[in-house]
Amino acid sequence: MTRILVAGGLGFIGSHLVDRLLQRSDLDECLVVDNLWTGSEENLAHVQDSRVRILVGDIEQAPIVGKFDEIYHLASPASPPWYMTQPLRTISANVIGAMRLLGLLAPGGQVAYTSTSEVYGDPLVSPQPESYRGSVDCTGPRAAYDESKRCVEAMLFEAHRVMGVRIKVVRLFNVFGPRTRADDGRAVSNFVTQALRGLPLTVYGDGSQSRSWGYIDDIVEGLARYFWRDGCDYPGPLNVGNDREISVLEVAKYIQKRFPERPIVHLPPAPQDPTNRRPDLTINRRMIPGWDCAVCYEEGVDRTIDWFRAELAKQPAPLLAPAPVLAPLDIVTPAALVPAAAEKPLAPVSAAIAGGAEAPSGAQLDL
Ligand SMILES: NC(=O)c1ccc[n+]([C@@H]2O[C@H](COP(=O)([O-])OP(=O)(O)OC[C@H]3O[C@@H](n4cnc5c(N)ncnc54)[C@H](O)[C@@H]3O)[C@@H](O)[C@H]2O)c1
Repeated sequence: MTRILVAGGLGFIGSHLVDRLLQRSDLDECLVVDNLWTGSEENLAHVQDSRVRILVGDIEQAPIVGKFDEIYHLASPASPPWYMTQPLRTISANVIGAMRLLGLLAPGGQVAYTSTSEVYGDPLVSPQPESYRGSVDCTGPRAAYDESKRCVEAMLFEAHRVMGVRIKVVRLFNVFGPRTRADDGRAVSNFVTQALRGLPLTVYGDGSQSRSWGYIDDIVEGLARYFWRDGCDYPGPLNVGNDREISVLEVAKYIQKRFPERPIVHLPPAPQDPTNRRPDLTINRRMIPGWDCAVCYEEGVDRTIDWFRAELAKQPAPLLAPAPVLAPLDIVTPAALVPAAAEKPLAPVSAAIAGGAEAPSGAQLDL
């Protein structure tokens, strides 16, 4: 009897991962635990499979019974405007969530964690190999996310080293595609939803900051191979991403070609926005040979446009992406783009940890 728990399984990547897990014939039960902070029940509304149960609640404290053979910890917002708005809640989801999940692991079970290229901070080397220790500001505006990811990596590697727990840690680079929130706030979804709504495409800074754009189908294929399909026992950390390095401006210009009447507008740079991102895939190629990002960003963007077009037609989303905790942190927020909520104070710690889904007001930042 194989019992699997997916924390954050109603989110963008988590829901695609659940779809892949359900292709497994050895799976008996899949418990999805999600508090709907940035996820949505819509993301798994298509699933008609009696092996799946959905529990809405915080992974730190949801009433979960029994132990699990495989645990996938994806419970954390990935988008800066969302995690910056509730930083303590972000730390809790990652760190306290990981503590809780370790306690739910059956003897001999495996826990997998989606860490991030953000552990490299604003990298001083390119491409970034897993051995690069990073350049992270532990008191900066991205610290809640970056440092909680680093802390969970430390926790899992210690559990592996000291207690022999089987772990799999991936460092994901930017992922995009269908099931991203319309108000996610990162570059591709922002540009696409702006274009579809007749708005200018807003680029922070000069747009020369580069990113690794991994299309969701490719990334989840890499996860499935590493986490269970290839029988790999490498604990990680393993970079998973597209090693074709493309600037934010280039992506905006590509989308503008599809919507030539939309201007590109430059806004002040986002705080501590990493200047470059590109995974070194040397270890990846040894662990999951033959895996690659087969969908180029242009094709991925086209598919994402089609998906958002259909979604926005169904249900008009809020006009602007979440924005900012930027004001309290003394970060420039373009007033013209953030009409109302930019001055919203930070929630108290207890509320921040316990609170429900609440769109920060806002802008676009690129992870
Ligand atoms: N999307 C990316 O580009 C990217 C890049 C690097 C790493 N990651 C990591 O991948 C994971 C998934 O990212 P995503 O893009 O799908 O984000 P997402 O925001 O769509 O999904 C996160 C999910 O976790 C849920 N959640 C948050 N806190 C929770 C809690 N305390 N208890 C239960 N559920 C909780 C949210 O409601 C949401 O459904 C995250 O850990 C993220 O850090 C994503």
